Amino acid sequence: MKFHGALARCVAFSTLQQLTLAQSAQELIDSVLNPDPDSATYSSYSSEIYYNATLYNQTPIASTNYDRLEASAKLRLPAAAYDYAAGGAGLGKTVAANRKAFDQWQIVPRMMRDVLPHRNLSTNLFGRTLPAPVVMAPVGVQTLFHPTGERATAKVFGELGLPYTLSTATSTGFADVAEANGDGSPRWYQLYWPSDDDLTRSYLRSAKENGYEVLVVTVDTWDLGWRTRDLDRGFFPFIRGIGVQIGLEDSCAHEKLGFNPLAPNATAEQKQTAALYHVITTSRGISPVWRNLTKLREFWGDGPIVLKGIQTAEDAQMAVEYGIDGIILSNHGGRQVDGAIGSLEALPSIVEAVKGKITIGFDGGIRSGADIYKAIALGADFVQLGRPVLWGLAHEGEKGVRHVLKSLLAEFDLTVGLSGCETLDQVNSTFLQRVE
Ligand SMILES: Cc1cc2nc3c(=O)[nH]c(=O)nc-3n(C[C@H](O)[C@H](O)[C@H](O)COP(=O)(O)O)c2cc1C
Ligand SMILES: *[C@@H]1O[C@H](CO)[C@@H](O)[C@H](O)[C@H]1NC(C)=O
Ligand SMILES: *[C@@H]1O[C@H](CO)[C@@H](O)[C@H](O)[C@H]1NC(C)=O
Ligand SMILES: *[C@@H]1O[C@H](CO)[C@@H](O)[C@H](O)[C@H]1NC(C)=O
Ligand SMILES: *[C@@H]1O[C@H](CO)[C@@H](O)[C@H](O)[C@H]1NC(C)=O
Ligand SMILES: *[C@@H]1O[C@H](CO)[C@@H](O)[C@H](O)[C@H]1NC(C)=O
Repeated sequence: MKFHGALARCVAFSTLQQLTLAQSAQELIDSVLNPDPDSATYSSYSSEIYYNATLYNQTPIASTNYDRLEASAKLRLPAAAYDYAAGGAGLGKTVAANRKAFDQWQIVPRMMRDVLPHRNLSTNLFGRTLPAPVVMAPVGVQTLFHPTGERATAKVFGELGLPYTLSTATSTGFADVAEANGDGSPRWYQLYWPSDDDLTRSYLRSAKENGYEVLVVTVDTWDLGWRTRDLDRGFFPFIRGIGVQIGLEDSCAHEKLGFNPLAPNATAEQKQTAALYHVITTSRGISPVWRNLTKLREFWGDGPIVLKGIQTAEDAQMAVEYGIDGIILSNHGGRQVDGAIGSLEALPSIVEAVKGKITIGFDGGIRSGADIYKAIALGADFVQLGRPVLWGLAHEGEKGVRHVLKSLLAEFDLTVGLSGCETLDQVNSTFLQRVE
C-alpha cells in the first residue's frame, strides 16, 4: 500500500503502542491504515473513516453523532414511520427521562495505566462468548424503515457475532431472518406471550427449529401504551399486515383460522383477519402472571429465559425466585408508561439486588459508546440497541446499520481505553460520578 503523508499524520496518534509489533515504519503504517481483519479493533473504524476520506474523498453514509443521524433518517422516512419509531407514550416524558438519566452520570477517566490497542470487550452470555456486551433490541415492523428490514439488521449483527433478537411483531419470519443472520450466529427470540397455549407452543417450536437460543419474554407490553403520535394519525401498521409475519406463517394459526393467509388463493379479507388474529392473541390486554412462568419453562425447555421490561429490584428478585436466567431492565423506550422513571435510574438498585444471581441486560436511551460504558460501569451485563439501529437502517439498509453499529462499538472501545481500562471487568462504578 502506498503511504500518504497527510494520512499517516491523521492516524498515527492512536497507535503508538503498535511500534512494538511492527518491524519498520512502513509496516507500522500499513498495519494501521489497512489492518488485516484479525488485528483490526473496533476503534480502528475511525482510521477507516479518515482513510477513506483522505484517499477517496468519501465520508460515512450517515453521521457518527446520534442527533444528526436521527435528523437525516427523519428526512428519508415517511412521517408515519419516523413518528412510530421516535415517539413515546403520552407527553414523551419517559423518552426524555431515559436520556436525562444518562446525563446524571459522568465518566471519571484515569490516566497512565497499562492500556493497549487490543482491549478485551468480550463477555460470556448464556453459554456463548461474545465479542462485546451488545445485543439488538427486539424491534418490530422493521420494513417500515427500509424494504430489507429485519434481514438487513440480522445480517449485520450476524457478521459482527452479536446477538440478534427477533420480535414477535417482526415483518420477516423466523426462517428468513435466520438465513440472513447466518448459520451459527447467536439468535434470540422475543415473545409477546399469546393468550392461547397452542400458539405459544407453536411459536416456540419454530423459534427453536430455526436456531433461536434465548427466549426473551416482554412483560411490559401486554397492551399497547398511549402512543399519541400514532393515535393522531391512526397509524397501526399491523392492520395493514406489517409486523404480523410470524402469525401469517404459523401452521397452528392456520389451523385455528381454518385457512392459510399466505396461500396463493387467499383473499385480502383472509389476510386481514389473520393479521388481526396475530395482533389480538399477542397483545391481549391481560397481563401475563408470574405463576404461569412454570408453564412457559415447560414449553421452552432448558434454554435460557429472560424477562424484558423489569424496572424494580423487587421484580428482579422475583425473577430470580422463579428460576429465570436473565432480566432486561427496560421501559420499552418510553413507549408504554409515560411519566415513568428513566431506565438507567433503576440500574443501581437492581444490580445491588440481583447481580451475579441472574444476567442483567439494559436498554433505554443508549445513543453513544459512552452510554454503553455507563450502563456497563453501573453493572449491566449487556446492553441492547434500539432506535439508533433503526435510524441506521433508514440509510440504505444494511450499509447504514453496519455504520451505526461499528460507530457505537468504536466509541465504546475508545471510551474503555481512554478511561484507563483494558477489559470489561475493570469497568465499574468507580469510573462514574453522579451529578445532581
Ligand atoms: C419502533 C420500535 C419498535 C419496538 N418493538 C418492540 C417489540 O416488538 N418488542 C419489544 O420487546 N420491544 C420493542 N421495542 C422496544 C425496544 O426493544 C427497546 O426496549 C427500546 O427501543 C429501547 O429504547 P431506545 O431505542 O430508545 O434505546 C420497540 C422499540 C421501537 C423504537
Ligand atoms: C471505506 O471504503 C471501502 C471501499 O470503498 C468500503 O468498503 C468501506 O465501507 C468504507 N468505510 C467507511 C467507514 O466508509
Ligand atoms: C476476555 O474477557 C473474558 C471475560 O472476562 C474472558 O473470559 C476471556 O478469557 C478474555 N480473553 C482474553 C483473550 O483475555
Ligand atoms: C384455496 O385453495 C385451497 C386448497 O386448494 C382450498 O381448500 C381453499 O378453500 C381455497 N381458498 C379459497 C379462499 O378459495
Ligand atoms: C395462566 O395459566 C392458566 C392455566 O393454563 C390459564 O388458564 C390462564 O389464562 C393463564 N393466565 C394468564 C394471565 O395468562
Ligand atoms: C473497580 O475496578 C478497578 C479496576 O479497574 C478496581 O481496582 C477496583 O477495585 C474496582 N472497584 C470495585 C468497587 O469493584
